[in-house]
This record gives sequence, structure tokens and C-alpha cells, in this order.
Amino acid sequence: MFLAAAPAWGRPQGQLCLTCHLTHYAERGRCSDCHHGNPGSERKNIAHDGLRAGKFVRFTLGDRAEKRERDNLIDQRACRRCHVSDGRGNRLAGSLDEAAVRKTAGELAVSIRHPVATMPNFCLNEGQITSLVNAVFDGSSGRKPVETAPVKVHFSDSGNKSEDIFSKRCGSCHRTLTERLGALGTGNSGPNLSGLFSQYYPKTFKNEEDWTARNLGDWLKNPREIQVWARMQPVVLTEREMAELVAIFSVFSGVGQNK
Ligand code: HEC
Ligand code: HEC
Ligand code: HEC
Ligand code: HEC
Repeated sequence: MFLAAAPAWGRPQGQLCLTCHLTHYAERGRCSDCHHGNPGSERKNIAHDGLRAGKFVRFTLGDRAEKRERDNLIDQRACRRCHVSDGRGNRLAGSLDEAAVRKTAGELAVSIRHPVATMPNFCLNEGQITSLVNAVFDGSSGRKPVETAPVKVHFSDSGNKSEDIFSKRCGSCHRTLTERLGALGTGNSGPNLSGLFSQYYPKTFKNEEDWTARNLGDWLKNPREIQVWARMQPVVLTEREMAELVAIFSVFSGVGQNK
């Protein structure tokens, strides 16, 4: 536990963590460079304010393999179809770079473990959640907070009662976050379609092509022609309905470039 009572004369100025703890990784920085907290107090409650436990600051050690694993998790689950992380992503939900500054490691972990209705539940294990919190901290570290208009996200699970085409024809099976209409749909049997037309949506169309208006049109006409195992039934839309749907999926707020 690195607990020790350092003699008073041995305590470096401004690093009162050493009142109670032994030092480690000293060559890599000071306690609060990695763990945050308040190094100016000898009182544990104050010193531990905003503390990040060791498992949430693994990223500070710069292990290459661990970093690759974290990046893969973020990419595979496509967190950036909704969030900005490490300066890249859509702004359909709040920026994770900003959340990392405002929230404790524990709070971030809870948000991923028990997501709001409009965020998919990825059913991750604790190790993966810890990796993702490391990824969120890593992505935000060294960034200046960006002043941006707050993202409008509707939290309710009751869905949007409006008569938009998504709610009417897709929403019983899918959900999506949109820039103009907020959260639409209540279904979880189909994938969450947030950011479908953006570079951050997984390349699930055939031949790893992007989801464009035309490809979506082909999919709706006959999903099985795109994926032989598709369960989704064809959906017939008028030209006007299709145009409305395409507008709903349009994302204008994305930032950065996918790697
Ligand atoms: C007054 C004594 C005291 C001071 C000052 C103190 N700690 Fe602690 N710390 C403890 C004790 C005791 C524990 C054991 C777990 C607990 O009670 O929270 C602990 C636990 C920890 C843990 C493990 C937390 C976890 O959730 O597993 C870390 C990391 C840590 N301290 C870092 C720091 C850092 C960094 C500072 C300075 C900013 C600091 N501590 C200042 C007494 C102290
Ligand atoms: C370079 C970043 C870094 C620095 C600097 C650092 N730590 Fe840690 N610390 C970690 C990591 C990472 C762990 C998790 C265990 C591991 O992987 O070694 C950890 C583990 C701990 C633990 C064990 C409990 C837990 O949360 O895992 C304590 C207590 C702790 N550190 C206290 C301190 C104190 C006090 C200082 C300053 C003297 C300090 N650390 C400096 C990165 C750092
Ligand atoms: C379909 C959209 C969507 C996807 C994909 C998504 N999230 Fe979220 N997430 C949300 C919404 C909506 C919230 C609620 C608050 C907000 O707007 O940030 C949220 C909240 C969070 C929060 C809490 C933020 C805060 O400010 O407290 C964290 C952390 C988070 N998500 C992490 C992730 C991670 C990690 C992934 C990928 C594994 C992910 N999210 C994927 C929509 C999404
Ligand atoms: C009755 C349920 C249902 C309805 C209604 C429905 N879908 Fe689906 N959709 C699914 C399921 C289930 C999948 C998962 C793939 C599969 O097995 O077909 C899917 C997959 C998709 C995909 C592929 C996404 C990916 O990443 O693989 C897109 C795009 C899509 N649906 C768009 C729509 C749109 C747009 C509408 C409304 C016009 C709609 N769906 C209506 C059930 C539905």
C-alpha cells in the first residue's frame, strides 16, 4: 500500500502525500502528476480530493501494448460516433475530453457500467471499463478545455413522441442521437445508429464501405442483399421519407480525423 510515516524533516515541500505514503515512480513525476489529489494537505480527505487510484492511471506508465488495447476498445465500440475523445469524434453526446476534467474516475466508470438509455450498454467487464477510463483520461491529458455550445441530449427513456420518420419506421428497433431532434427511438433489438453517416460509425456496410445515403437506400430495400444473415426486414419508404431520414442522420459537428 506504500504507507509510511515519513519523518517531518524528510517531507518535500508541497508534496504532503509523503506524510503518509512511500514514494514510487519518483523518476516519472510527482504523486499528483499521475494520481491528482491535493498534494498541499496532510489531511487525508483533502489530500484525496479528486484522487485517481492506481488502476485508473496505468496510462501514465506509457505501456505500448496497453495503449493499443485501449485504442482498440474505443474504436471497436465506436465511442466516437457520439463523443469526442482525444480531440476526435462527433458531438452528439458530451465530450469525453471535458468529462475527464469534471468527473472522478469512479464517476466515469459508473457512466460506462450503467449507461444512460441513449448510450448503448456494451456489457463490458471491469477490466475493460478500467481500460476505457484510462483511455478517457489519456485522451484528455494535456488538452486545453474547449469552450463549445453544450450538447443537447435527451435522457428520457420514453423516446420522442414526434412524428419524425425515424421514430415512426425505425425507432421500435433502433435508437439514434441527432443534432436537430435529440434522441430518437426506443428500441434495442437493432444497433444504435448514432452518427451513421460519419467517419466514426463502424464500417458495417459491405466491403467496409461508408454508410452513405445511397448505401442506406440499398440496405432498406433489401438488407439480405448486403448481409446474407440480416434479420432486418426490408423497409419501403417514399422519396420524401427517404430524404427526411437522410437529413436526420446528417452530422455536422464532427471534429478531427479518424486514424
Ligand atoms: C493523512 C495520510 C494520507 C495522505 C496525506 C495521503 N494519503 Fe493516500 N492513502 C492514505 C491511506 C490511509 C490510504 C488507504 C486507503 C484509504 O483509506 O483511502 C490511502 C490510499 C491511497 C491510494 C489508493 C487509493 C485507492 O482507491 O485504492 C492512493 C493512489 C493514494 N492514497 C495516493 C495519495 C496521493 C497522491 C496523496 C497526495 C496528493 C495522498 N495519497 C495523500 C493516507 C494518506
Ligand atoms: C508515473 C505515474 C505515477 C507516479 C508519479 C506515482 N504513481 Fe502511484 N501508482 C501509479 C500506478 C500506475 C499505480 C498502479 C500500480 C502499478 O501499476 O504500478 C500506482 C499505485 C499506487 C498506490 C497503490 C494503490 C493503488 O491505487 O493502486 C499508491 C498508494 C500510490 N500509487 C501512491 C503514490 C504516491 C503517494 C506517489 C507520490 C510519491 C505516487 N503514487 C506516484 C502511478 C504513479
Ligand atoms: C450512441 C451514442 C453513444 C455511444 C456510442 C457512447 N456513448 Fe457514452 N454517452 C452517451 C450519452 C447520450 C451520454 C450522456 C451524457 C452525455 O451527453 O455525455 C454518455 C455519457 C458517457 C459518459 C459520462 C460523461 C459525463 O459527462 O459524465 C462516459 C464516461 C461515456 N459516455 C463513455 C463512453 C465510452 C467509453 C463509449 C464507448 C465504449 C461510449 N460512451 C459510447 C452516448 C454514447
Ligand atoms: C423490426 C425491427 C427493425 C426495424 C423496424 C428497423 N430495423 Fe434496422 N436493423 C434491425 C436489426 C435487428 C438489425 C441488425 C442487423 C440484422 O440482423 O439485420 C438492423 C440493422 C440496421 C442497419 C445496419 C447497421 C449496422 O451497423 O450493421 C441499418 C443501417 C439499419 N438497420 C437502418 C434502419 C432504418 C433506417 C430503419 C427505419 C427506416 C430500420 N433500420 C428499421 C432491426 C430493425
